[in-house]
Amino acid sequence: MTAVPPPVITIDGPAASGKSSIARRVAQHLGFTYVNTGNMYRAMTWAVLEAGVDPQDAEAIRAAAAGITLESPVVEGKTQVCVCGSALGDDELNSDPVNRAVSLVARVPEVRERLVADQRALIALGPLVMEGRDIGSVVFPDSPHKIYIDATEEVRASRRSAQGHADQVAERDRIDKQRTTSPLIVPQGAIVIDNSHITLDEAVGQVLAALHLP
Ligand code: CDP
Ligand code: CDP
Repeated sequence: MTAVPPPVITIDGPAASGKSSIARRVAQHLGFTYVNTGNMYRAMTWAVLEAGVDPQDAEAIRAAAAGITLESPVVEGKTQVCVCGSALGDDELNSDPVNRAVSLVARVPEVRERLVADQRALIALGPLVMEGRDIGSVVFPDSPHKIYIDATEEVRASRRSAQGHADQVAERDRIDKQRTTSPLIVPQGAIVIDNSHITLDEAVGQVLAALHLP
């Protein structure tokens, strides 16, 4: 008899749509581990920039990434990101240079292959709420629990600027949707929740209501 794998709730969507806030609360509610895969791409980007690499230079990114180790230890129900043994915080992960470069680093196929493998391996932690751009389409395409969180471009831009970040969300979305390897799409079978005009609590309620967990 084959063991049934733990459930993975996949949450995808464009920048600043509310994915992280919603995913964190859903994970807390269910007692599942929360994984923010954007932070893994952000950590890789931070390390590549620290190495002095031009984010437009895919070949240099590939070479630098090969020497960077990433780990995802769990702290208080959430995965953290450590680069070569040091934990990164919000200041590094959400810095302006990382916001500008992350979609360029994330479109390099070898970077994606490696992080997708790391993300799949996190199933060893047990039930997960994993959030990103390609979780329902590529990382866990067989999950029966797929959500796509959306919000209008205006709402997303204003949410991000209210957080005090300089972030060209429309430009990141453009690159994320147009890249060749695992672009941002609504995954097959995903339930789409537009949370432009509802509160965070209402959005969490809609996600929990849409899931049919055993
Ligand atoms: O928080 P926000 O929605 O602004 O972004 P994020 O989830 O932290 O992701 C940052 C960037 O990482 C995205 O714009 C994508 O370029 C990339 N990313 C990805 O390609 N695939 C994922 N599964 C998660 C993030
Ligand atoms: O992870 P992602 O970039 O998709 O978005 P986020 O960082 O979770 O949300 C961006 C901001 O929008 C946060 O300050 C949330 O509290 C806020 N938000 C909101 O005000 N109402 C919602 N329905 C969803 C998010």
